[in-house]
Amino acid sequence: MHHFDRINGALHAEGVPLEALAEAVGTPVYVYSTATLTRHYALLREAADTHPGALGDALIAFAVKANSNLSVLATLARLGCGADTVSEGEIRRALKAGVPGDRIVFSGVGKTDAELAFAIEAGVRQINIESAVELDRLIAVAAGKGAAPEIAIRVNPDVGAGGHAKITTGGATDKFGVPFADAPALYARAAASPHVTPLGLACHIGSQITTLAPLEAAFRALKAMTLDLRAQGLAVSRLDLGGGLGVPYHGQSDLPSIADYVAMAARVLEGLNVEAAFEPGRLLAANAGVLLSRVIQINERGDGRRFAVLDAGMNDLMRPALYDAFHDLVPVRARDGEPVAYDLVGPICESTDIFARDRLSPPLRAGDLVAFMGAGAYGAVLASEYNSRPLVPEVLIDGDRWAIVRGRPTYEDMLAREPRADWL
Ligand code: LLP
Repeated sequence: MHHFDRINGALHAEGVPLEALAEAVGTPVYVYSTATLTRHYALLREAADTHPGALGDALIAFAVKANSNLSVLATLARLGCGADTVSEGEIRRALKAGVPGDRIVFSGVGKTDAELAFAIEAGVRQINIESAVELDRLIAVAAGKGAAPEIAIRVNPDVGAGGHAKITTGGATDKFGVPFADAPALYARAAASPHVTPLGLACHIGSQITTLAPLEAAFRALKAMTLDLRAQGLAVSRLDLGGGLGVPYHGQSDLPSIADYVAMAARVLEGLNVEAAFEPGRLLAANAGVLLSRVIQINERGDGRRFAVLDAGMNDLMRPALYDAFHDLVPVRARDGEPVAYDLVGPICESTDIFARDRLSPPLRAGDLVAFMGAGAYGAVLASEYNSRPLVPEVLIDGDRWAIVRGRPTYEDMLAREPRADWL
């Protein structure tokens, strides 16, 4: 469900016509919908609040990596959403956007000592420990500060899942989390240290997961380990269930609903008396954003192949090049005519700069505006200036109003960041 709809044949973001927006801001540009972010958060919040017995006062911590724009984060922060972060930069963004420290979770496979120290000073709610060596480093850093930060041990339940091998994280050979068999001893070690306070377990098995079964298997594994640890006299009061629920990039109607997902979690955790945390990224942000682009030209080959060359490239939207990801492309102005097969490509000098092959679309012409749908998560955050293209800007919509929430750098801005070595 999103708020990008046609009004009189022209695609709008809430109350704002995308044609007018493109005139004002230029293309390519990411456009985010406040109403969509708000709705997705509300659905998850309401679902979690339906099960206070099983899930406690559940924390919803938006995975900042999915969309770290400060205004997007501030929109969610105002609703009470927390933040799942994986770097000092993300913690700083969350704090600046108004997320209180006690709603910030710090995860990640390679946190530096400096980042751990920063997280302690920022008073984050919880540091998710991903390995034995990391626990030792945290203990040393915390001891130096006379602190005892609250931690969870991220376990690897050996349930790999996700929409693509490159976004699966929970398999035994993946780099993430503590092997399941090693976790109890590590938890006990943490409990014995005066410099950390282990409160619970965490897991995240992958992303764009489109059935509940693997998630349920992972949650059951967390439950079993909770009971194990308690049998050893160790306290476990929090379970961080990670993110990973998929979104309908293809318009599928058979994906688990937010309510079903949360009800499943509640069923598994019933009676455990823990406080749950959810770390959704894509679920909140993907359908809240589109990438608006203009057709530069249509190259028609003698063999009939048609390339629609767009002014957005893989540097602006990496997902198709990285994960063969599908993003629906829709013309901003409704077009009549029989669908035509296009290879949708960007202007970058790389053969992976191709969004889709043989994609059927209403006829396109040079100058047409088009929108990649479902681009609000892992879109702008993965963008680069490759081929010296200024970083793609971002706009936030709220009803009839809009704001540039990250401006397009000028070429002067771009070049000014690189001082010339003084011997040149
Ligand atoms: N928690 C942890 C520890 C994570 O590593 C991630 C995502 C999330 C939560 C949020 O997962 P989500 O709810 O968004 O599935 N760039 C890839 C996705 C990478 C996901 C990385 N971790 C893509 O564009 O598909």
